[in-house]
Amino acid sequence: MMHYREYARILLEGASLEDKLIHLKDIDYTESTTQYLLPENPGRSKQLKFDNQQVKFPKNTSFHLEEKRGLALHFFANHELLAIEMMAAALLIYPDENKDSILFKKGLVKTIQDEQKHLKLYLVRMKDFGIELGEFPLNDFFWRSMEKCSTPSHFYSAMAMTFESANLDFAQYYEKSFINVEDFETAKIMRIVYEDEISHVALGAHWLNHWRGDVQLWKYFVDHLPGVMTPARSKGIHFDRNSRIRAGLDDAFLDQLELFRDEFKVTNRKSW
Ligand SMILES: [Fe+2]
Ligand SMILES: [Fe+2]
Repeated sequence: MMHYREYARILLEGASLEDKLIHLKDIDYTESTTQYLLPENPGRSKQLKFDNQQVKFPKNTSFHLEEKRGLALHFFANHELLAIEMMAAALLIYPDENKDSILFKKGLVKTIQDEQKHLKLYLVRMKDFGIELGEFPLNDFFWRSMEKCSTPSHFYSAMAMTFESANLDFAQYYEKSFINVEDFETAKIMRIVYEDEISHVALGAHWLNHWRGDVQLWKYFVDHLPGVMTPARSKGIHFDRNSRIRAGLDDAFLDQLELFRDEFKVTNRKSW
């Protein structure tokens, strides 16, 4: 049986897509005292190397073209790959202090397996459109926030409560966009991602609620956002309150989030 840390190292340090998609049934969750320093970058084959050349997200008004839909999926696939690597990093960098740490890590492994499923769905569909992962630049935007996530609270404030929370809005928005061009197969993938994402946000919310003590969830979340990240990033194009209620977030929190505005006009942006 492989130890969870060994598993995480393959996911994070392995260079190939096979490494990122490795699946294990039986995992050993014995507490470990091994320390791990976050690497500058995840292991990436030449094909998958970070490249921050700007590529514009395609407008959904161009989604009647397969190549544009393929490019949109390439963006989504990149996010899934980054999620796998960041969650693997979280398995490694945070210490095993008690039983909660192990429960936290078990939850992460389960989430990683969903992200792998999403990545595979996108890869297969992209292939239908003649596109391989790495054919377009793969940016490292999400990964760069990792070095600022000094505790699991920071990690879930960024990952579940920001990136995955925004994805609730985006997955729903793009599901509709694909339906509009009668691409029901891709729309179905967006629906699967949306449903899974609700459980991922729920898991993050569960842990923040567990760790926050008497502090209000909104305050705890905002205080633990790493670096210059703002709560505006946790919203997409249209605010989907219902999925967040399903994720267990209460009205007090959602009112704050929905009303939140700052100079970072993310909720006014036109695309992902
Ligand atoms: Fe995902
Ligand atoms: Fe997710």
